Amino acid sequence: MVKGTYGIDYGLIRIDRTGQAEAFDAIGDRYDEAFRQKKGQLSAGAWLLACLPSGSRVLDLGCGTGLPTTRQLADAGLEVVGVDLSPGMLRLARQNVPGATFHRLDLADLRPDGPRDLGRFAAVAAFFSLLMLPRPEIPLALRTVRHLLVPGGLFVLSMVEADVDDFPIPFLGNTIRVSGYLREELYEVIEASGFEILRESSCTYAPAVADVPPEEQLFLCCRRRD
Ligand SMILES: C[S@@+](CC[C@H](N)C(=O)[O-])C[C@H]1O[C@@H](n2cnc3c(N)ncnc32)[C@H](O)[C@@H]1O
Repeated sequence: MVKGTYGIDYGLIRIDRTGQAEAFDAIGDRYDEAFRQKKGQLSAGAWLLACLPSGSRVLDLGCGTGLPTTRQLADAGLEVVGVDLSPGMLRLARQNVPGATFHRLDLADLRPDGPRDLGRFAAVAAFFSLLMLPRPEIPLALRTVRHLLVPGGLFVLSMVEADVDDFPIPFLGNTIRVSGYLREELYEVIEASGFEILRESSCTYAPAVADVPPEEQLFLCCRRRD
């Protein structure tokens, strides 16, 4: 059994993904149309590229359509593995980034002693994917990221700043459930999970569709503390 922060472990929570992958299957490439500007995400990817030697092995957790991050990292010569729960998003990712390797997996499958072991990575990216988990699971997911990294490995992520837990929202004609924190609490959760935050940035983002309201996006560049 894997001990998480706050005394919770994977054996004590019910993992409920009802409707999450189906929503993204239905959303497909409309996701990239709605979220066209990805300056903050590309900048965090560029930070990673500046830190890593060519050929480094990197995991894109909740890679979606592979745009922009899987492609950005693969085009720069990294060996990128993408993981996502949604077969529809993965189909697009395989088309968009033929040079990367993809697996349809739940990120919880990658936990220490979990059913899948993809080995260790020099870096992990998780852009807007951890927010798809209920809050009690986020520290466990962060522990999983830590487990997937080599000592001193890098971790870049983004979240939307919001004080919500497993909250249903309309999203591109579907309903998804999302969680988030106010930024100070997010930093605490990340640091308590064994990471040092090296760089942070935020921006207000207005998606190019009417049914997704403007959001405050947080981008963090972190290192695994040994
Ligand atoms: C908001 S999208 C972000 C996609 C991509 N990272 C990007 O920045 O464009 C969230 C992605 O996480 C995936 N996802 C949600 N829950 C997941 C889980 N438990 N395990 C793996 N992927 C998950 C969804 O299918 C979706 O593709």
